[in-house]
Amino acid sequence: MCGIIGFIGKIKANEIVLDGLKHLEYRGYDSCGVSMITLSDIIVKKDVGKIDEVHARLNFLEPASNIIISHTRWATHGGITTYNAHPHLDCKKEITVVHNGIIENYKEIKKYLIEKGHKFKSETDTEVVPHLIEEEINKGKKFEEACASIIKKIRGSSALVIGKKGVEKIIGIKIGSPLVVGVSEFGNFIASDIPAFLKYTKNVIFVKDYEMVIASKDKVRVYEVLKNGRIKKVKKKVYTIDWNVEKAEKGSFQHFMIKEILEQVDAIKLASMQDREKLESFAENIKNYKNLFFLGAGSSYHASLVGKYLFSKIAKTTVVPILASEFIHYKDLINDESLIIAISQSGETYDVLEAVKFAKKVGAKILSIVNVNGSSLTWESDDYLLMNVGPEIGVAATKTYTAEIVILSLISYALSKRLEEGKKRLEYLQNIIYNLTAENRRKEIEGIARFLKDKKSIFVIGRGILYPTAMEGALKIKEISYIHAEAFAGGELKHGTLSLIEKGVPAIVLVDEETKDSILSNAHEIKTREGVIIGVSPFYNEIFDYFIKVPECGYENAVSHVIPLQLLSYYIAVSKGLDPDKPRNLAKSITVK
Ligand code: F6R
Repeated sequence: MCGIIGFIGKIKANEIVLDGLKHLEYRGYDSCGVSMITLSDIIVKKDVGKIDEVHARLNFLEPASNIIISHTRWATHGGITTYNAHPHLDCKKEITVVHNGIIENYKEIKKYLIEKGHKFKSETDTEVVPHLIEEEINKGKKFEEACASIIKKIRGSSALVIGKKGVEKIIGIKIGSPLVVGVSEFGNFIASDIPAFLKYTKNVIFVKDYEMVIASKDKVRVYEVLKNGRIKKVKKKVYTIDWNVEKAEKGSFQHFMIKEILEQVDAIKLASMQDREKLESFAENIKNYKNLFFLGAGSSYHASLVGKYLFSKIAKTTVVPILASEFIHYKDLINDESLIIAISQSGETYDVLEAVKFAKKVGAKILSIVNVNGSSLTWESDDYLLMNVGPEIGVAATKTYTAEIVILSLISYALSKRLEEGKKRLEYLQNIIYNLTAENRRKEIEGIARFLKDKKSIFVIGRGILYPTAMEGALKIKEISYIHAEAFAGGELKHGTLSLIEKGVPAIVLVDEETKDSILSNAHEIKTREGVIIGVSPFYNEIFDYFIKVPECGYENAVSHVIPLQLLSYYIAVSKGLDPDKPRNLAKSITVK
């Protein structure tokens, strides 16, 4: 969804900003650019391509500057072209802007500005911002005032970093899209996400919506922009975050995705380390509400489906999972007797935030499970539990999916007053995941991936807790290996899908103790039609053409069975020569509708 980073400081920082931008590349990677701002000039370098490619062509290290803003793009408005890449400029080339988000009313603003004589170079929504600021300055406003005034004029969700020729300040604005400030002795950062500056500082100021940050080389001031357009200074706390720098680095791994898959042993432990009191108060809250909903998108939604199973089995509690993007269609069910548990790695997913904002308005209570502390969802929630697993950089959710399940499992055990039992089970799960991700197991899965890599379609079936696990596996395969993969509840095959099965069509069959008889019978239905069966199962069965052995873990099968699927998707992508960290058309944090 685009990554933005700006720096202003006492040192020339081209290399630091370039490094920071690379740490944001998971947010978008179709084009990128940099503005070097000096007292007398703004030098913009931008082009289509990933950061390393564009830097190799244009050299982002020259000219050296201590005021820089930069951007890595995931196109929404306007094709992938050099003109549409950010940063953008005003007519006089004095104001430069990078943006993450969507300005919904940009067409009207653009029309107004064109009538005023402004000339546009791109098809983007963003380009209206430098021209609007220019227009406000033309009317006599100072740079800061002009920036503040645009907050009322643009609709939609945006995070902006703005610089001006001759001004030793950069300005950040947050309206619905993520923005954080990094404070260091040698200068200050304004960026989409903490990994952008984690190597250089762990001191962070979290920015709320409708706040404007003015950073100079040795100071950061934050203002709330009021409805009347005035600004009011806000006292902000500087937090020291405990994220480990190594977690944001690839180290010796070929990709973040494989690093993060292997980190799941740790992730289970870290996500389990929840404050007991807080966990129990979460559970108490749940008991006090009549209607309980889970809310999530993509993998987080799949985790919520696993949560539905865990809540029903462990805590005998009914919960309705709703896809965040569909939430509004169920709005009539939500009222002040509703409790929403929103699940989101980033805490910035647009659909999740919109749903939460609506639910709050009608009086619902909001609890959330989030990885990124200080993200918008944490501000919108009455209370939240953090996943504690450090930044997830690979676009495909892996360790955070597991962390979400771990936390949902702990909540269900807390609800049934068996928290110790739940924690013990999760401790045991760590050993299992350690073994499942060992090198020999990975090699085995790599072999099966080579068989699957040229297939047109892959089916994944499961029942019970393994149905959402199948959905998660299919999503992983689709998103990074570009093979059509579809998940089915085993019993649904006969209601239509079976007609797609013919000779050689592969089906991954997820088997556990609870569902073995029925799912194997579904596997037979596929085998009879000459499909190829890949069994992910605690025991061998003669109908398996390929066999991935996983231990039987009961409720924790949702984690143990998903690991081979994550590895399969990873190795399929790698064997096809694709970059699993940067799948086409996707980005990590989806901050648009
Ligand atoms: C899939 C994936 C996405 C996210 C979804 C929600 O691998 O990563 O489907 O799960 O975009 O993101 P969060 O959890 O940040 O709300």
